[in-house]
Amino acid sequence: MQKPLLWIAFHLPEELLEPIKAYVDVKMWRDTEVDMPQQEFETAAYEADILWTVVSNRVTADVIKRAPKLKMIANLAVGYNNIDIEAAREAGIIVTNTPDVLADTTADLAFALMMMAARRTLEGARALYQGQWTGWQVLGMTGTDIHHKTLGIIGMGTIGELVAKRATGFDMNVIYHNRHEKDNAYGAQYRSKEALLQEADFIIVLTPLTAATRNLIAKEELALMKKSAMLINVARGGIVNEHDLYDALVNGVILAAASDVFVEEPVPTSHPLLTLPNFTALPHLGSATVETRLAMVSRNVESLRAYFHNETIPFNVI
Ligand code: DGY
Repeated sequence: MQKPLLWIAFHLPEELLEPIKAYVDVKMWRDTEVDMPQQEFETAAYEADILWTVVSNRVTADVIKRAPKLKMIANLAVGYNNIDIEAAREAGIIVTNTPDVLADTTADLAFALMMMAARRTLEGARALYQGQWTGWQVLGMTGTDIHHKTLGIIGMGTIGELVAKRATGFDMNVIYHNRHEKDNAYGAQYRSKEALLQEADFIIVLTPLTAATRNLIAKEELALMKKSAMLINVARGGIVNEHDLYDALVNGVILAAASDVFVEEPVPTSHPLLTLPNFTALPHLGSATVETRLAMVSRNVESLRAYFHNETIPFNVI
């Protein structure tokens, strides 16, 4: 009997396929340097019974319409804004993700990025590597303390709670905004979005990207923030309006910002934000530790195994 075709749209070390390889024929994007171009991804989707995707693979309604055999998408991420969920639902396609295994790791990176922005570590390192470190000066390269400051978390899911937990160790006062108030958020206090924007010294954005959260932080919201405030995005590009953020950083509306995520990824080196000394960028590293990435792969593998065994899918979005 012919096996289903699993198209893996990113490079995956072969040994990680061991638990499922008996059930499928596999095709894989083998380039470790460059993401699979969208056009080639669409051809793969046309052929595939099952797609294994990462956040850079856009599974639009159009892609789904042109994928006659597609029955399942395993997405190697907790976020699934790269997939048109309604179109997948209508087509009866199972979509799975990787919940619960990357929250601590992403919270660590959110905290690291806040500290990088506060302590100007990218600027400092750049100066050193470029031979521009001329000596110790009393007010040279001085940043801003994070301890005893107010941290505002927008989007209080599991990652938000774990950021709040870390912040308590730094004696930060933590406030949050979320669709629902939480009973126990490591002592963090609920605020309206406007109150949080006005009160916080540091704001970390952690919402999923949906139609409701696109441009959640734009010109109006940036104007409410303190002039001394810093904005950190470790969620998705597009939640913070990049154009408005650029203007705010150039015009001193806020002091600094940092981001692990961009509207266009990989971010082009010509991106205006990358020219600013008060902007710190990382290349979507939120979940990037060996332990966490392997745990994410295991989540997808468990879902795929369950599918091949006709069992209930453990980590399905739909
Ligand atoms: C996620 O899981 O959504 C991350 O952004 C992928 O690293």
